[in-house]
Amino acid sequence: MANLNQDGQREQWGSKIGFILAAAGSAVGLGNLWKFPYMAGKNGGGAFVLVYFIMLFLVGFTLMLAEITLGRKTQLNAIGAYRKISKKWSWVGALGVLAGFIILSYYSVVGGWVINYIVKSFSGALKIADADVLGGMFGNLISGTTEPIIYHAIFMLITMIIVIGGIGGGIEKSSKILMPGLFIMIVIIALRAMTLPGAVEGIKYLLVPNFSAINIGVILDALGQVFFSLSLGMGCMITYGSYLSKDTNIPESATVIPLIDTGVALLAGLIVLPAVFAFGYEPSAGPGLLFITLPAVFAQMPLGTLFSILFFFLVLFAALSSSISLLEVCVSYVVDEWKIKRKVAVSGIGFAMFLIGILASLSFGRLSNITIIGGRNIFDSLDFVASNILLPLGGLLLCIVVGWIWGTDKAIKEASNDGKIEFKLAPFWAILVKWVGPVAISIVFIRSLLG
Ligand code: PHE
Repeated sequence: MANLNQDGQREQWGSKIGFILAAAGSAVGLGNLWKFPYMAGKNGGGAFVLVYFIMLFLVGFTLMLAEITLGRKTQLNAIGAYRKISKKWSWVGALGVLAGFIILSYYSVVGGWVINYIVKSFSGALKIADADVLGGMFGNLISGTTEPIIYHAIFMLITMIIVIGGIGGGIEKSSKILMPGLFIMIVIIALRAMTLPGAVEGIKYLLVPNFSAINIGVILDALGQVFFSLSLGMGCMITYGSYLSKDTNIPESATVIPLIDTGVALLAGLIVLPAVFAFGYEPSAGPGLLFITLPAVFAQMPLGTLFSILFFFLVLFAALSSSISLLEVCVSYVVDEWKIKRKVAVSGIGFAMFLIGILASLSFGRLSNITIIGGRNIFDSLDFVASNILLPLGGLLLCIVVGWIWGTDKAIKEASNDGKIEFKLAPFWAILVKWVGPVAISIVFIRSLLG
């Protein structure tokens, strides 16, 4: 069976902080560093951030607690956990596994771009302060055929190698070094970006909401982003929670992890958007923002090359600590239920993801004229289906299973370690998970379907 140590017991995190950093490692990733700034840029800046915060409080914390609690209670993978609560609901876990599969296939393409930018940083190719030239360079990379696919393959291979090695010491140990490192770097670079001439406009754009920019599209994007960024709605936190010992303080963890995640996302926004305005770029430029404006900032900094190398390495590590968790959700299910070897499962799933990822990669070049959902190319369609449909749907169903099928009394008993620790907000959480979460998600869904 999967995930057992030599004594035949389920593997566990070595320490409390180890779990928090690993779970924060899953949450903090490309979603924060790459997606949040361009989502904010696309959706009116402060308007998006405001709606993001509302969604974070209504559903983010609530579902984080629900997933971790469900995982620790059942000590099982995503599908197994739902099945243990009720046989009728195991398909919810399956939806999550499907979402993980889709997300990693295109996530890995972006991970590949990051590796390419590490190489470019070393070679000095990025030492250009002109954002137009950098924009052209980025466009050349992603619209290519073989180059981005090779880097996508490298990213997927690294993810696969780590997951083959199991999740215990590896993830936890690396998270303990990488997460604090990432935090220090991101603060330093944010300070630099915010002091660029003209940066104030960017800070204002991000933090001052323009209410007229809020529409149903912005709300759906913000909801999807909360799920994506916090790794919620697909059983990832169920899986990580299943490696917890019975004495962990879940309410505390479920508060700290979203706070770390949101802090990093805001800092990333405070790096990218001030730089965008300082260089006279369009905030709505899309997925290229991180790869175009950041190098422009680095090119103007003393020791810029060094910073650029370090930064893209840290982006890579943040991406890997997330991609591992995405692959692990699929792998642990297959190993448990289909009774095949971990190595075989990782190879098979990883390869299939790699193939789908090729289509996502080519959708910026040769296949760019293929549009699937609402004019979106293949890459954006995969992201839309996973982030804006499957994850919120998974979250809605999670609320129903935890709030109504399992029942909030039992869940609160588990989350408070049988009443041994304080869980002051328990009655409030029960209302959120039973009513507010499902109603909020349903309204956003139905409204967005109506257009
Ligand atoms: N939260 C990760 C990020 O922000 C992505 C992710 C989504 C990871 C869902 C696991 C599950 O990059």
